Parts: sequence; structure tokens; C-alpha cells
Amino acid sequence: MRKVAVMGVGNVGSTVAHLIVDHADADELVLFDARKERLKAEVLDLQDAASLLDRHVTVSEGSFKEMADADVIISAIGRIDLIEPGGDRFTELRANKPSAEQLGKDLKAAGFKGVLIAITNPVDVITGIYQANLGLPANQVIGTGTYLDTARMKRVVAEKVNLDPRSIEGYVLGEHGDSQFVAWSTVRALGKSAEQLAEEFNFSLDDAEQAARQGGFDVFAGKHYTNVAIAHAAVSLMNLVLSDARRESIVSHYDKDLDSYISTPAVIGRQGIVADIDLDLPDSEYAKLKASAQTISEKTQANS
Ligand code: LAC
Repeated sequence: MRKVAVMGVGNVGSTVAHLIVDHADADELVLFDARKERLKAEVLDLQDAASLLDRHVTVSEGSFKEMADADVIISAIGRIDLIEPGGDRFTELRANKPSAEQLGKDLKAAGFKGVLIAITNPVDVITGIYQANLGLPANQVIGTGTYLDTARMKRVVAEKVNLDPRSIEGYVLGEHGDSQFVAWSTVRALGKSAEQLAEEFNFSLDDAEQAARQGGFDVFAGKHYTNVAIAHAAVSLMNLVLSDARRESIVSHYDKDLDSYISTPAVIGRQGIVADIDLDLPDSEYAKLKASAQTISEKTQANS
């Protein structure tokens, strides 16, 4: 039996839960939220779906005791209402930090030994806070990071070159925030480099990068939260863990050299990060990655 849990059933967490009952590699889903009415309603709504689903998943509400033996827990708590349109995800730090600290401590006390995947923003910092409070090895605590920004970059480039986004290779690295950047050295499609594609299809790499960076706020501007894409990102990572996929993926994880949680690709399997990847970036891109880690650290100070 593969057991997973979702903490926080707001717009993001309820969408995560929906995707899990729909298609995650899990048999048992536990939901947790401090808002008891909302929690009960989400559980009931998902249980009502049970007879309509193609497969069996047990859904229940639970607390730390019920989550302690989960294989994977997703953290979807957060106060997105604190972010201003076009603002910065760090505005959420003061509210989300104490919650992540307490949840981490409570899960540790309950004996949780699985993999935690954080969505909660500012995700690179919150993932580190979870790791410190859970006391688990760094490889078992990961964040969605720029998984979603990478999808946004693929959407933007795919439109330019008239391809399915899945045909675009490559990564957005760094902070899940303004200091992220497209590592154009990693981007390829149609057997061509990013520079060749930009020339042949007549588009600006800088504009494409800005559109990807802006993507979350474009969604936010219209619906005041983002949920579907980020939920897919988290559930995809969850499935890689549950199935011990050993697949290369972009993910926020602890980088020893940069002493920060930050997104670069790594190999994901049953224990979270199961192997590191050295991208061997050109100097100019490594400098951007270092600068992004520095930005995360400065914004953490400024917002603590
Ligand atoms: C976004 C949120 C998850 O970028 O930060 O959609």
C-alpha cells in the first residue's frame, strides 16, 4: 500500500488531492488542514467521487499520527492572499515560516520518515525550513521549485516554434521567483540549440525568458491564485518518488556548493534525490545560479 498525505486543502491542496485520486501511484490519501469544516468537505467530496473513479483510493482526514507513515507528504499550505499582483512570493514568508516550522516539528515528533515535497512559497526557503525541522536527510525534502517555470518556458518556446511543449528540452534554474533564469545552454528542440531556434523562428530569447518568469503572475492576475499547473508539478514529482522512477527532473533541493535550496536538475527516486547531476554550465550561467542563491539568501534576511 502506498500512502500519501496533503497538508493544506486550499485551492492548491484540493487540486493536488483531486489529481492524486485521479492518477497518482497511491492507494491511500490522508488530508490535513487546520480548517476542520473545509477539510471535512474536501474529504467528503473526494469520497463521493470514489464510485465514479476507475481505480480504488482510500481518502480520509487525519493528523500527524495518520500522516506519520506516509511515503510522501505534499505541503500545500500557504497564504497566497498576501501576495500583491505582480509581487514577490517572499511576501508569504512571515506567515508561512512559523507554520512550516511547527508542521515540521510535529511530523518529526510523530516519526515521519518519508519524502516531503513542498509547494508552499517562497518554496526554496520553506523547503529548507521543513528539512531543518523534520531532521530528515536533505535528499528526502524537496520543493517544486522551477518545475513549473520550466513548464512555462516550454509553453513559450513551443508556441514560437510550433511544437508540443513536451518536445522542448531544457531547464529554468534558480529561485522560484524573479532571479530564476532560463539555462539556454540546456534548451534544445528539433535538433537545434536555443540560439539556432531563435534565429530560425525569429524570436527573442530574452523576451521568452521574461514571459516564463512572468507566467505565474499572468495566471494570478486573472484568478488570484494558481493551482492546476503547480498541482501537476507536485503530483508528477510524487509519482517519481512512489514508483522509484530514477528520472531526471528539475526540482528544488539542497545544493552544498551554494548552501541553499535552489532548483537544478537531479535524479528522483524512492528516497527523494537519489543522484546529483552536474550540468557543467557555461560560466555565465553558473554566475546567474550563484546570484540567484544570493538573492534567495538576501530576501530571506529581508523578510524574516
Ligand atoms: C506559481 C506559484 C505556485 O508560480 O508560485 O504558480
